[in-house]
Amino acid sequence: MGTMRTELSFAPIAGIATELMAVLAADTQTEKGPDAKPQPTLLTTDAAVQTAAAGVLTTGEYKAGANETVLLHAPAGLAAKRLLIVGLGKVAKATVHTVREAAGTAVRFAKPRGVRELALVLPESYSKGLPNAVARAAVEGAFVGDFDPDTYRSDRKDQSIQSLTIAAPAGADRAAVEKAFAEGVIVGESQNFARSLINEPGNKLTPTILGQRAALMAQEVGLQWEVHSTEKLRELKMGAFWSVAQGSAEPPALIVLRYEPEGVSSGPVLGLVGKGITFDTGGISIKPADNMEKMKYDMAGGAAMIGAMRAIALLEPKVRVIAIVCAAENMPSGTAQKPGDVQTAMSGKTIEIINTDAEGRLVLADGLTYARQLGATHLIDAATLTAAISVALGKVTAGVFSNDDAAYARFDSALKVSGEKFWRLPLGDEYAEMIKSDISDIKNTGGRFGGAIIAAEFLHAFAEDTPWIHLDIAGAAWVEDSRPYIAKGPSGIAVRSILEWVRSF
Ligand code: BES
Ligand code: MN
Ligand code: ZN
Repeated sequence: MGTMRTELSFAPIAGIATELMAVLAADTQTEKGPDAKPQPTLLTTDAAVQTAAAGVLTTGEYKAGANETVLLHAPAGLAAKRLLIVGLGKVAKATVHTVREAAGTAVRFAKPRGVRELALVLPESYSKGLPNAVARAAVEGAFVGDFDPDTYRSDRKDQSIQSLTIAAPAGADRAAVEKAFAEGVIVGESQNFARSLINEPGNKLTPTILGQRAALMAQEVGLQWEVHSTEKLRELKMGAFWSVAQGSAEPPALIVLRYEPEGVSSGPVLGLVGKGITFDTGGISIKPADNMEKMKYDMAGGAAMIGAMRAIALLEPKVRVIAIVCAAENMPSGTAQKPGDVQTAMSGKTIEIINTDAEGRLVLADGLTYARQLGATHLIDAATLTAAISVALGKVTAGVFSNDDAAYARFDSALKVSGEKFWRLPLGDEYAEMIKSDISDIKNTGGRFGGAIIAAEFLHAFAEDTPWIHLDIAGAAWVEDSRPYIAKGPSGIAVRSILEWVRSF
């Protein structure tokens, strides 16, 4: 994980001595039509910054488009050595999340240039009434931008930003901004912790090692934890989870993390269930070679739960939470399960295996049952479950399903804080019918169309009527091309939304 030191400053902007000061600008042009030129406007009223930026803002070369940057050296009147202007785009479209991205853009501008020190000035005119939300988002965005995946390069050139200062505007509510800033650090670090796990290749992050990483984190932040393996799966009769693990020389890990705040002995118990396939070859229904290396990220749902639990432990919401990550490798071997095999899940339901590559739903089936057995009153799962979700929504937006509108409403509100993109898809009996088996209670695949919904209906059969949310993050968990504010690689999606969902109880 990056070692970025963070600091909140209420000092006058002009006096902040730093390698690079970043300020935000938006396009405030409201006229439409061919003659309406962009109107780049600084969101900082500091007179020295205004003067230093005046020239470049009037030439027309800089338009304050979303994540558009311009750099000024030795800005007169500022203690900073460089002044970077980052655009938010049209002011009417700018949100707290736009600020999150702009902060990431500033960090990713600095990194390859060897700039290790950065001061980010929070927007003032824009953030009226929202300074704390903006402060938090800016810190989160800076952490997200600081992450790079090249951990195994001998010449790793992109080192982390060493010191980040967030400069609050004059007149900000000090206590509120301080609290939001501290939250942003926790959330940003937790998201990057999840990303660092997702980024690890299958040989470096086996189920056992994932369990060790989760346990180490749990110790650090004061969560209760247990990591079990094969014997416990037998004891709990987790036949669906084991059916995936049985083909690998690597033992599975059943990771359980518990957050039990003092004085909370009644009310809901939230069950977080994550898919932790540390590598998915497809098993006997083996995947084609093209892009198979990507299947190291098939534990992104599990990592999201582990990352969210870290943030939960540090932010201390007043609700009990249990996280269960079902970690295994999906391998073809002499001991692997075969198409046509029938497995008995922990719930007692029998499953006909049609395709051994539909393994995520198998491990989650037992994870959901176990969460309910441990007392979960509400469930949320996250999984890189289906390629079909990317066919439906592309790689930007992840899918969300729910059997309970009230639980979903909380999630929808959480998205307003997290800024993550999810879109709700339907469930339905007609889809559930497609996974009826001739030989057993249910089968693990059901035809070509609506694959993400069918997979969700499979999980629904194990969540039953417990209020439940299912997140299919197969597309959005991996950023295919670098963007100005985030590196190509693991996105860490779902950590922030799961956290806010938990905090809503
Ligand atoms: N892990 C994959 C889904 C996936 C695909 C994640 C691409 C990320 C990128 C999952 O286990 C899988 O193989 N799903 C199959 C299900 C099918 C056999 C019904 C799929 O989506 O093709
Ligand atoms: Mn698979
Ligand atoms: Zn998979």
